[in-house]
Amino acid sequence: MNENKITVQEILTLKNKRKITALTAYDYPLADLIDKAGIDIILVGDSVANVVLGMESTTMIGMAEMLHHAKSVTRAVQHALVIGDMPYESYQINPDKALKNAARFIDEARCDAIKLEWFDKCLQVTKEIIKAGIPVIGHIGLTPQTADKIGGFKVQGKDPETANGLIEQAAELEKCGCFAIVLECIPDKIAQLITKKLKIPTIGIGAGLYCDGQVLVTHDLLGLFQRYKPKFVKQYINLSDLIQKAVQCYKQDVLEEKFPGKEHSFGISNDALKTLLESQA
Ligand code: KIV
Repeated sequence: MNENKITVQEILTLKNKRKITALTAYDYPLADLIDKAGIDIILVGDSVANVVLGMESTTMIGMAEMLHHAKSVTRAVQHALVIGDMPYESYQINPDKALKNAARFIDEARCDAIKLEWFDKCLQVTKEIIKAGIPVIGHIGLTPQTADKIGGFKVQGKDPETANGLIEQAAELEKCGCFAIVLECIPDKIAQLITKKLKIPTIGIGAGLYCDGQVLVTHDLLGLFQRYKPKFVKQYINLSDLIQKAVQCYKQDVLEEKFPGKEHSFGISNDALKTLLESQA
């Protein structure tokens, strides 16, 4: 047991104290850097499908790949709460399978909690997983795994009826025992209403300033993913440009025989070299 690890209980107590910080990570080096920067929650999101694996949709990634990425993250993390994102069809098809898959994130990948997106039987599955002692974070609003059922990748809850639906979903998830809820792509005033109604924290992405915390896809924040940029993303640095420049410098150095230099090369004593050359003569 790592004494420095932030717990689900601590995340709950942050509501109304200070904002909760969360980012995605999918591998050891970025998880290590994010953790050392003191971020509270690291989500091994199924967004890895888009931003790392080059897939068109998060529905294309499965359990094996998610566990592979989750394991590399938990190897690095000393402090943050690590949440494994349940991939499409790992929990929607059958509740028993959902529980088994959730347990794999905890037992095999050493995650602290799991996340699942809202779907029609979400409450039943969420209850079963929580009953088994696995902490769950819900996810409502724009749920990318079932985007086709909610009118595509659009802001959700813009009319009174759908906004009310979101408020009800949030309340039901809290009643089920979720320790937090991700609100994705909903109007800021609706996120504020939900945040005020709940005792558990809300973590927003494209849900405005009034949520209890914020999450972003790290590759968006770092400018490492260039295929598209949602309106809600703030890019803090353009690592793509920096990496391209560094790679071009390397290429130039190799072509111009400037790399490797003496300082990157290994020597052999003159005597050893002489003996070798004589033995070959
Ligand atoms: O997969 C992911 O990165 C997510 C966040 C957008 C919340 O679910």
